[in-house]
Amino acid sequence: MKALVIGASGQIGAMTVRDLVDYYKADVVAADLNLAKVKNVAKSTNPNRVTPVRLDASDERALSKALKNVDVVLNSAWYELNMMIMPAAIKAGVHYTDLGGFYDITLKQLKLNKKAKDAGITCVLGIGSTPGVTNVCGAAGANKLDSVDAISIYCTWGTKKKATEAGMPGYSIRTVIDEMTQEPGIVDKGKKMKVPIMSGETSVVMPEPAGKVTAYYIKHSEPATMADYIGKGTKHVSFRIGFPEVDFASFKTLAELGFGSEKKLDVGGCKCSPKDYITAMYTDAVSSARRSSDVVDEFDYLRTDVTGKKDGLPAMCTLFVRTWNDRKTGLSSGRDTSVPPSITADWLTKGKIKETGVLPPEACLDPEPFFKELGKRKILVDEELQVSSKFY
Ligand SMILES: NC(=O)c1ccc[n+]([C@@H]2O[C@H](COP(=O)([O-])OP(=O)(O)OC[C@H]3O[C@@H](n4cnc5c(N)ncnc54)[C@H](OP(=O)(O)O)[C@@H]3O)[C@@H](O)[C@H]2O)c1
Repeated sequence: MKALVIGASGQIGAMTVRDLVDYYKADVVAADLNLAKVKNVAKSTNPNRVTPVRLDASDERALSKALKNVDVVLNSAWYELNMMIMPAAIKAGVHYTDLGGFYDITLKQLKLNKKAKDAGITCVLGIGSTPGVTNVCGAAGANKLDSVDAISIYCTWGTKKKATEAGMPGYSIRTVIDEMTQEPGIVDKGKKMKVPIMSGETSVVMPEPAGKVTAYYIKHSEPATMADYIGKGTKHVSFRIGFPEVDFASFKTLAELGFGSEKKLDVGGCKCSPKDYITAMYTDAVSSARRSSDVVDEFDYLRTDVTGKKDGLPAMCTLFVRTWNDRKTGLSSGRDTSVPPSITADWLTKGKIKETGVLPPEACLDPEPFFKELGKRKILVDEELQVSSKFY
């Protein structure tokens, strides 16, 4: 497989490059804005298999040139770039994956379904951990039931010492701030709708050491697709984050202080938006922390509850996904986001995904083999099925 990874030196992209090489012996063109950073990714992965290139994906000509002679493009850059990179992939006849379109962009991307079908390619949207693995979990749960009423998704992260230490989310602060400043979408009584930021407060039990967490509705793309593509009568779909307490307080403060703003300010002659500034600052802080010898054990947990009926009686299928950082390989718990696009690229290029068009993960990825691939990287999926019986 010859793969182009865009955003290849990002937190997620760099781990995807490594997975493509380690598990599939892929030849990877690692593209990003900053050549020095992707050169480092190539050097630390496998310089014989990884070719670093400088690419600004918003430059249409440069992008179409980079798409020549590759089998698949994995978009690991900002979701705002999806509607530039995906149309270019369709035009070039190259399979495509991304990490999610943050609800509204996902809906725009789905409108290009016919164009992708006509080009004979498959674009898999939002194939990270969440969105991504959670969509596949929803499909797996629905497969166990005759009809579905609700799909409720939860995510949390943290460290072994959950109460006292802020876990670093395995993804960019830019996304976290977007999540805290933009209205979430849910499906309620069969209708897609927007709800207030941080509404839907509920308590959910996650595996230890997270335990019981308070979770809120957050803007995500699962509710944009799952009711339509899973079907079976699904009437409710929601996504909530259970922030670790310390992180919740810090991120809320940053959002309230206006760090979500994209308005450029003059800072001593340098024009920069609060969002760009905090993105750069946080990226630097995360890479220093990951270089430190004092690595903290951190986890990412996902929970997907699918409720409905089996044999005419109430039933529920819950899927838990657990990922800890891997001290042996040095990979963070954020690999639950970087591995799914790598597996998908392998399946796309081997013809294991037969459907063409623009599709969410629940519409084209077979859950069991997918979960087994995740298991090889110690991304652990457990399924619990509760069915009811009547004795009268
Ligand atoms: N589905 C999921 O489970 C999931 C989970 C986490 C994150 N995400 C999404 O994944 C995306 C990446 O997250 P991340 O945490 O890896 O962010 P990140 O560490 O900031 O990585 C993004 C990379 O894209 C590069 N980039 C930005 N603009 C570009 C352009 N025009 N052309 C080429 N490269 C460009 C950035 O370069 P510079 O650093 O030089 O600007 C950076 O290296 C985000 O949209 C996020 O919402 C999805």
